[in-house]
Amino acid sequence: MERSLTLLLMFITLATIHIVQAQDQQGFISLDCGLPATERSPYDEPKTGLRFYSDEKFIQSGKTGRVRVNPDEYLKPYQTLRYFPDGIRNCYNLNIEKGRKHLIRAFFSYRNYDGLDINPTFDLYLGPNMWTTIDLQIQVNGTRAEILHIPTSNSLQICLVKTGTTTPLISTLEIRPMGNDTYITKSGSLNLFGRIYLRDSDKYIRYPSDIYDRVWTSYFMKEWTQISTTLEVSNSNKYVPPKDVLATAATPTNSSAPLTIQWRSSNVNDQYYLYVHFAEIQELQTNSTREFNVVWDGETSDPIIPTKFNIDTIYRRFPSTCKGGECNFQLRRTNRSILPPLLNALEVYTVTEFPQSETNEKDVIAVQNIKATYEISKISWQGDPCVPQQFMWDGLNCSNTDMATPPRITYLNLSSSGITGTIAAGIKNLTQLKILDLSNNNLTGEVPEFLGDMTSLVFINISWNDLNGSIPEALRRKGLNLFHQGNPRLCLSGSCLQPKPKPFPVAIVASVASVAIIIVVLVLLFVFRKKRPATVGALKGPPPSISPAVNVTYANSSVSLIQTNKRRFTYSEVTNMTNNFQRVVGEGGFSIVYHGTLNGYEQVAVKVLSQSSTQGYKQFKAEVDLLMRVHHANLVSLVGYCGEGDHLALIYEFVPNGDLRQHLSGKGGISVFSWGFRLQIAVEAALGLEYLHSGCIPPIIHRDVKTTNILLGEQFKAKLADFGLSRSFPVGGESHVSTVIAGTPGYLDPEYYRTSRLTEKSDVYSFGIVLLEMITNEPVIGQGRAKIHITHWVGFELNSGDISSIMDPNLQGDYDSHSAWRALELAMSCANPSSARRPSMSRVVVKLKECLVSENSRMSRGMDSHSSAEVSMIIDTEMFPMAR
Ligand SMILES: *[C@@H]1O[C@H](CO)[C@@H](O)[C@H](O)[C@H]1NC(C)=O
Ligand SMILES: *[C@@H]1O[C@H](CO)[C@@H](O)[C@H](O)[C@H]1NC(C)=O
Ligand SMILES: *[C@@H]1O[C@H](CO)[C@@H](O)[C@H](O)[C@H]1NC(C)=O
Ligand SMILES: *[C@@H]1O[C@H](CO)[C@@H](O)[C@H](O)[C@H]1NC(C)=O
Ligand SMILES: *[C@@H]1O[C@H](CO)[C@@H](O)[C@H](O)[C@H]1NC(C)=O
Ligand SMILES: *[C@@H]1O[C@H](CO)[C@@H](O)[C@H](O)[C@H]1NC(C)=O
Ligand SMILES: *[C@@H]1O[C@H](CO)[C@@H](O)[C@H](O)[C@H]1NC(C)=O
Ligand SMILES: *[C@@H]1O[C@H](CO)[C@@H](O)[C@H](O)[C@H]1NC(C)=O
Ligand SMILES: *[C@@H]1O[C@H](CO)[C@@H](O)[C@H](O)[C@H]1NC(C)=O
Ligand SMILES: *[C@@H]1O[C@H](CO)[C@@H](O)[C@H](O)[C@H]1NC(C)=O
Repeated sequence: MERSLTLLLMFITLATIHIVQAQDQQGFISLDCGLPATERSPYDEPKTGLRFYSDEKFIQSGKTGRVRVNPDEYLKPYQTLRYFPDGIRNCYNLNIEKGRKHLIRAFFSYRNYDGLDINPTFDLYLGPNMWTTIDLQIQVNGTRAEILHIPTSNSLQICLVKTGTTTPLISTLEIRPMGNDTYITKSGSLNLFGRIYLRDSDKYIRYPSDIYDRVWTSYFMKEWTQISTTLEVSNSNKYVPPKDVLATAATPTNSSAPLTIQWRSSNVNDQYYLYVHFAEIQELQTNSTREFNVVWDGETSDPIIPTKFNIDTIYRRFPSTCKGGECNFQLRRTNRSILPPLLNALEVYTVTEFPQSETNEKDVIAVQNIKATYEISKISWQGDPCVPQQFMWDGLNCSNTDMATPPRITYLNLSSSGITGTIAAGIKNLTQLKILDLSNNNLTGEVPEFLGDMTSLVFINISWNDLNGSIPEALRRKGLNLFHQGNPRLCLSGSCLQPKPKPFPVAIVASVASVAIIIVVLVLLFVFRKKRPATVGALKGPPPSISPAVNVTYANSSVSLIQTNKRRFTYSEVTNMTNNFQRVVGEGGFSIVYHGTLNGYEQVAVKVLSQSSTQGYKQFKAEVDLLMRVHHANLVSLVGYCGEGDHLALIYEFVPNGDLRQHLSGKGGISVFSWGFRLQIAVEAALGLEYLHSGCIPPIIHRDVKTTNILLGEQFKAKLADFGLSRSFPVGGESHVSTVIAGTPGYLDPEYYRTSRLTEKSDVYSFGIVLLEMITNEPVIGQGRAKIHITHWVGFELNSGDISSIMDPNLQGDYDSHSAWRALELAMSCANPSSARRPSMSRVVVKLKECLVSENSRMSRGMDSHSSAEVSMIIDTEMFPMAR
């Protein structure tokens, strides 16, 4: 006689349910999954009056499917479905009231929507916790999952998780707020096992009869007799089962037999809660009685006499298990009772525990905010950000102490995510964040102050963006590692904390004749010269305040002459800034270069000149003053100097990425620059040199152009170092001969030996040698070679007419030979023994740019940007010493 309590599917029937007048659906969420929002959404489902909406707003992934098997037999909400071919976990995100009990119901029907005839199986999650497995291979006609659950946050995540090869799908999703004080459990949520009303019918009852839209399925057995009433039955208790449900009941036909419902538990350990609803719906004679006991879980209840036309709901406060998995629910007539027992409706639930805490709600809101701000559409960025761990969002990591503690987000890595805009304010609310990586994106704007206030942060990487402004002081605290290279507009020095006065409007400047500009420059120069002595007189420490800059800008050139806040330092300040000359970053014959820090954060290179080299303070001072006004993106700028007695020091901006020689040699694991990148560096170095020659008044001759003096700054921008000073100081590294006052052997203009005069064309010669080095990667003076000097060697090799024997073998033939030839010709013309036949630097710049364009067009044809790829491989070179 054992019968299983089958769950009849609600859609099977087409029997009519008359709709009472439209009732309040407040708080209801009714989603017709897969319904395109453009296709009549929302609509009122005619049988229930429920208003269904498209699910598009609540999920970011998935596709629309339409049932193929007899679609007309299905209610409209089941005709479309959403399926998820991409990603492992796909989640709905719904806003509901936290702490309130909700009925959550989802329906799944495959119906061969994809024509493949493979019923899928997958898992269903509620937030971070597994809810149930949906197996449509067994439930071929579709199945539903339903639970009574109290969400712990205002956002409810319902996730479909792929567990095999089949594609998860969902047909409808419905959420109904419930009363708080019903269906109370010791722990866990109530997963629906069955909700039946006892009537011999194929009709189901739900909204609007049931104000909570519980679905009641009719259920009847042949050994029962149905009784019913047309009179109204009161349903007013907390559970409010529909009056419709209470209008019928079953009694055992054999009045002395018990009323029995049996089923087999799918899991022996399942814990059950039963809610038994009955009402006396027969007019009883005065001499007749109905009294029975409920027998469940081996226990017999006190005798129960149903109330006339009024609801009674009985349940136990504790869950029960079924012995051996055999569940047996009985109503037994007592000795006194004349009438058999009666049952109107029964609800059976099993307990589902959700042990894993959701991620801290504030963190979730914050990261959702960030996701929205940057319009991140990573497929893994759905559902709970941290848990379960196997579905943690890409680029996140969290503290996971134990299941009962809400995880916190400790790591956010949006590196190379193509994000734009400013640094999201939402980050501020990730209060446990330790590591933040926003590198390699297109972020703009300033570095926000709040990052400095996030005390948990120990690492920030904002490299390779386009941030500007200055770095907040608070970000320089101990214990926080900040990486910010590759933001060319980001100010690192204290000087830029002040707003710069606007340069003269370019349009106006451009319209003024260049003669006028020159006059302005000369006047300014004259004024500064005159003012100098006054400043020099006040030698006690740095000026108390930083004087505003004066900018004279040429139209569309980077030429500018700036009287800045550069300054003179005392020796004790130099001692301080170098931390007592602690870190040597370079050494030459007449100087040692130390790493230093200005204002506590601006990195500088401090070149301390040996005392023996002193050749008159006045001349030193005059040259320094001149050089401090030289400003160009491709020149290492002089920040200040110290001239106190014998102590002479020059303070330069710190250039972090080593020198060109190092990058050509590929020593120390540095990868070799590509041909295109070499041309880029050559153009930049040439621009710096051109500026010294034609942008400065009077023109400045570098005197020591060589590969070790071409330094690489942020984003590997080339910067010429050590220019101009050699007139009064031997700053060249290799020369120990005090009578040689300029240049480095091999780079020195051969005409100098005849004329003892250095000119701009001498710099052009040296630059030609640099170009030859970049092309060949041969030493300038190669003792073991047939031809010792590089110009002779190249000339010798050129006779073969084969450029590949000349080009640096490290390039592995990866260059445009046209651009290589042109660069080689240019280099040889620069290195012409006769200065008159050498081009000017302006000409060199033009020619190099042409080579670069030619090489770049090859690169874009090949769709393969070697230069940038190589740059990204060698960024970690901050610690290379600055060249002497
Ligand atoms: C349900 O209970 C929670 C917590 O006990 C409370 O915050 C919430 O307001 C209650 N909701 C209703 C509808 O009673
Ligand atoms: C599915 O529905 C068909 C037709 O309604 C029925 O014959 C079949 O038994 C059902 N299968 C299951 C597993 O309920
Ligand atoms: C009616 O039920 C009683 C008790 O279960 C049983 O002894 C009796 O045989 C049943 N009568 C019939 C006709 O089945
Ligand atoms: C109950 O009372 C009615 C009359 O009031 C009588 O016909 C019936 O036989 C009685 N039934 C029993 C079981 O005593
Ligand atoms: C009911 O009958 C059973 C035996 O049939 C007996 O053991 C029990 O004491 C009776 N109970 C009452 C309340 O008369
Ligand atoms: C996340 O952090 C834990 C411990 O802090 C570490 O073991 C794990 O490797 C991290 N996972 C990822 C993906 O970074
Ligand atoms: C961030 O992720 C990238 C790869 O996507 C990785 O290279 C980088 O090391 C990560 N950053 C940190 C700080 O872990
Ligand atoms: C941060 O959280 C607070 C409340 O916890 C909220 O008021 C604020 O809007 C949040 N800020 C951002 C940028 O999300
Ligand atoms: C910072 O990010 C850049 C770009 O993604 C990367 O190359 C660099 O190694 C990172 N720095 C550190 C210290 O992780
Ligand atoms: C930044 O944006 C530019 C153009 O808008 C694009 O070419 C470049 O690839 C972007 N860079 C990154 C790292 O996304």
